[in-house]
Amino acid sequence: MCGIFAYLNYNVHRDRRFILQVLFNGLRRLEYRGYDSAGISVDSSPFYSQFNSDLNNAHSVPPPSPLVFRQAGNIDSLVKSVHSEVETINLNLEEQFSVHAGIAHTRWATHGEPAPRNSHPQTSGPENEFLVVHNGIVTNYEVLKETLVRHGFVFESDTDTEVIPKLAKFIFDNATEGGQAVTFSQVVLEVMRHLEGAYALIFKSRHYPNELIACKRGSPLILGVKDLAEPACNGSAAFNDDKFLSKNGHPKELFLSSDANAVVEHTKKALVIEDGEVVHIKDGAVSILKFDKEKGKSCGSLSRPASVQRALSILEMEVEQINKGNYEHYMQKEIHEQPESLTTTMRGRLIRRTSSKDKTLLLGGLKDHLKTIRRSRRIVFVGCGTSYNAALAARPILEELSGVPVTMEIASDLLDRQGPIYREDTAVFVSQSGETADTLHALEYALENGALCTGITNTVGSAIARNTHCGIHINAGAEIGVASTKAYTSQIVVMVMMALAIGGDSISHQRRREAIIDGLFDLPNKVREVLKLDQEMKDLAELLIAEQSLLVFGRGYNYATALEGALKVKEVALMHSEGLLAGEMKHGPLALVDENLPIVVIATRDACFSKQQSVIQQLHARKGRLIVMCSKGDAQSVCPGDSCRVIEVPHVEDCLQPVINIIPLQLLAYHLTVLRGYNCDQPRNLAKSVTTE
Ligand code: UD1
Ligand code: GLU
Ligand code: MG
Repeated sequence: MCGIFAYLNYNVHRDRRFILQVLFNGLRRLEYRGYDSAGISVDSSPFYSQFNSDLNNAHSVPPPSPLVFRQAGNIDSLVKSVHSEVETINLNLEEQFSVHAGIAHTRWATHGEPAPRNSHPQTSGPENEFLVVHNGIVTNYEVLKETLVRHGFVFESDTDTEVIPKLAKFIFDNATEGGQAVTFSQVVLEVMRHLEGAYALIFKSRHYPNELIACKRGSPLILGVKDLAEPACNGSAAFNDDKFLSKNGHPKELFLSSDANAVVEHTKKALVIEDGEVVHIKDGAVSILKFDKEKGKSCGSLSRPASVQRALSILEMEVEQINKGNYEHYMQKEIHEQPESLTTTMRGRLIRRTSSKDKTLLLGGLKDHLKTIRRSRRIVFVGCGTSYNAALAARPILEELSGVPVTMEIASDLLDRQGPIYREDTAVFVSQSGETADTLHALEYALENGALCTGITNTVGSAIARNTHCGIHINAGAEIGVASTKAYTSQIVVMVMMALAIGGDSISHQRRREAIIDGLFDLPNKVREVLKLDQEMKDLAELLIAEQSLLVFGRGYNYATALEGALKVKEVALMHSEGLLAGEMKHGPLALVDENLPIVVIATRDACFSKQQSVIQQLHARKGRLIVMCSKGDAQSVCPGDSCRVIEVPHVEDCLQPVINIIPLQLLAYHLTVLRGYNCDQPRNLAKSVTTE
């Protein structure tokens, strides 16, 4: 949800056109996360510190105010408005900057409607002395605002964010009026001391030209470093972090972003900024300070914490992952790349030795905790949306193989109820982004209650990955489409592998284990096969294009498929759709059945097959308009005499069937969306990672 991007070039000439391009491009990489407005700030002219030696001296003349451009709506409308304004104010796009710090933002409004004045950067006042881009929410902004208003500040937006730059100016003015020299980071540390809530912030200031400060609490933020004096990094070369982070004259480019997606095309050398760290970029050097709320309080004047050492790491993401390739939409690409993403999910974890029939399963992130998990009183899955559905799909096999009771929790509901979580519990937190606010809060709650906390996420370095005791990365590659597709199937596969790992090698389960492992090896092929239904699903979408509503009935392993299929249709195709447990049909939903309402019934072969056959008969008896998903070869038995439409899918081991069965429904949702003229990658009102509650 929402995004931050900043670009700082140091000792390398870049013209204004290039700088704008990098900023716009960064914003485009963040688009998929969801936003309603955008903005940037760049300098109005180059500024070189050698001409103005003592910047910290309050009496030196500050350089001209930075420029700010803000727009409601999409990035394209921001780009257009910037270009027209550039013409109006006669700004030279060819002007060269050997150092320049630009900041950019996509906003997901929490306080105040999407409008230029509410877009970021938010400013300290008319001179843009301090500018801030912010992801998150400042929960105590009302008190801060009152105080600042009392000191004469005039607010122009409805955002919570606006208190931040104004507070920075207030602190700066107070310090410098007393003749005190104050560094940019001291100002920001003092600002942080007053802020409550969750945030990732980047500060730019007219008083500290060519410098940037980034800090965070809760919301994600990473720093990317590209040293232009070094040969390009091939991902494995050893490198000396100090050289990048300390002061030296090397030409370099620095990037700050809430998302690795916006950084990886420039550099793979990155640092995941941690909560409470303050990253100060100045003279090509990066210093990292640790914010300590308590320490700050005890000091009378502005504090000067020591800087901490951090090492850069290599982003594993490939640039291809964030491009659409030959596909029209990310959602389409991500549906079709599932054979590959599933292969990557299993790579290095499921191993078949060619010399023997031996197969081994190794989940590096879980192996030291298996004993504890087996001994736990129950396993509690916690998630939201698609991640919850994936856990629901894996629940039966986990119960079967582990013998431990498995319960399901929607993260927000667990928190609302303050449901019991015990020390003897293993809580498993499932989230594609690893930053989902509700799931993250549920994690904090479970940690407080002493449960063993396990994460299942797609994002290395994410808050959930960092804060859980152990876990498994699903390694599905970047997922950009807001509607989760490949992450869902990878989550299921990871949880099936987890069930196998927890279950261990007990003799009674040996045959079942073998069958599942064989099924996993063959799964990418089966997914390739089911993807061939693409055209058939497009034809079906054409039939359903004008419908108001769609029901999906499933049970057993495929109750989750019904929920997830319906969720896809509602979130991207904007059609009302409900996933229902077929066993509940007679307790209400049957009343809806008539000859008009389309109903998908999932009736692939498993232990529930005969029950689903009887559901189909009962729906037929009420002249239901049925679309039946069945195993290959079962069309006649589920649907005698062409009485309904059939989707035949390859048969796999029952616990893996949800991976296969969801794919036609993903395709259906995709085609329905495109045919109905909606945007499948950024559906109305939805964001990719839901980082606010
Ligand atoms: C790890 C490496 C992988 C390498 C492999 C070789 C990472 C991220 N992964 O993969 O590059 O090829 O070893 O053996 O370096 N974790 C959590 N919570 C989560 C997810 C993960 O705490 O939500 C922890 C795990 O417990 C583990 C670490 O993060 O300590 C890495 O997890 P994962 O990537 O799943 O481990 P491997 O598959 O062993
Ligand atoms: N709370 C801030 C606002 O409404 C920031 C929202 C965001 O994260 O984009 O402006
Ligand atoms: Mg989701």
